[in-house]
Amino acid sequence: MPMSAEYPWTKSPLIASAPMTKVAMPKLAVAVSKAGGLGFIAAGYSSDNLEDLLEEAEKLLLQESMPEMKMKTETETEGPKLLPIGVGFITWSASLEKALASFSRYCPAAFWLFAPARGFKDLIPWAEQIRKVTVDRTRIWVQVGCVAHAVEAVGAIDPDVIVVQGIDAGGHARAQGASIISLLPEISDKLRELRPASAKQVGLVAAGGISDSRGVLAAMALGAQGCVLGTRFLASCECVVADGYQKAILDASDGGMSTVRTTIYDKPHGYDGRGLINKTYVDHMAGLSEIENGKLYRDELDRGDGGYGTDGRLTTYAGTGVGLIKKVTPAGDIVKSLHEEVSATLYGGGNLSRL
Ligand SMILES: Cc1cc2nc3c(=O)[nH]c(=O)nc-3n(C[C@H](O)[C@H](O)[C@H](O)COP(=O)(O)O)c2cc1C
Repeated sequence: MPMSAEYPWTKSPLIASAPMTKVAMPKLAVAVSKAGGLGFIAAGYSSDNLEDLLEEAEKLLLQESMPEMKMKTETETEGPKLLPIGVGFITWSASLEKALASFSRYCPAAFWLFAPARGFKDLIPWAEQIRKVTVDRTRIWVQVGCVAHAVEAVGAIDPDVIVVQGIDAGGHARAQGASIISLLPEISDKLRELRPASAKQVGLVAAGGISDSRGVLAAMALGAQGCVLGTRFLASCECVVADGYQKAILDASDGGMSTVRTTIYDKPHGYDGRGLINKTYVDHMAGLSEIENGKLYRDELDRGDGGYGTDGRLTTYAGTGVGLIKKVTPAGDIVKSLHEEVSATLYGGGNLSRL
């Protein structure tokens, strides 16, 4: 069964927008879901205003005519209202208690859990409570960056979907890792080896460096049932980023050279972050102390849009696929063109080299 069948409004292959902290808000998530993808809202580091975000998403969903989304009302089903979007948490700091309060009213179609501080056992209360409060009507996604973590996650909470995050990914990821080209098939093989054929199937979704339909097709060839794109949606009309940040994304090329994984932008719990190489990084490598660098960073905030990009100091998270992104477009157009191009290649004799 294709994963899109789990989410009746989506098309295959499943295209999801990543729950990017401070960036992926209701407008982006709704636009992606409305176009046949699965949009995630970022609850991010805390869950403080999650109920407001879900209420905003509900209003946007009601404004749109999306009969195919099959939104259920509370009178049709017991429990909170099902929303055709997901919500993502950075679990090293997000509060489960605060999050749960929001779910008495709303049930996002997917919950994305990332980066537990002490190991995947940390996610057990998350999974138990989410399943209980939402009356098991939602799906649990876990993002991992290595085979061992996929095995741990499955053992701890039996997720519905594993997001396989390759080292090319923008934003936070494990400091050490592999690209999806080897990571995804190895995780797939490992799970097949460990789980009896009768066990619930865990969906595999690829993330990291995917910016266009060639990346989506490659991920499908690796065995992924869907793709998560983060950096690509930084160049969408609905994301929440400074104009200077978006310009830096469009200006960047040769993503393996213009971005870097580093702890200078942030260093929590064995993770680091991939972002555009900027003056903060260059000065760090040249030996500038973190205290001095931090002071320059704070001063740079006054420069606003000018503070982003190669000549700036403000963190500009981006994946290696950044060089493939040439313009800012509505998020729905991104989803639709990915589906059209994938379909043209697979079924319409489309030529990969022309995509
Ligand atoms: C600006 C930005 C912010 C991100 N914030 C989060 C986050 O809050 N939670 C999370 O699980 N992943 C986050 N990520 C990582 C994404 O989940 C995903 O792994 C990544 O975007 C995929 O790689 P790509 O950017 O090359 O498409 C972020 C990525 C970016 C670019």
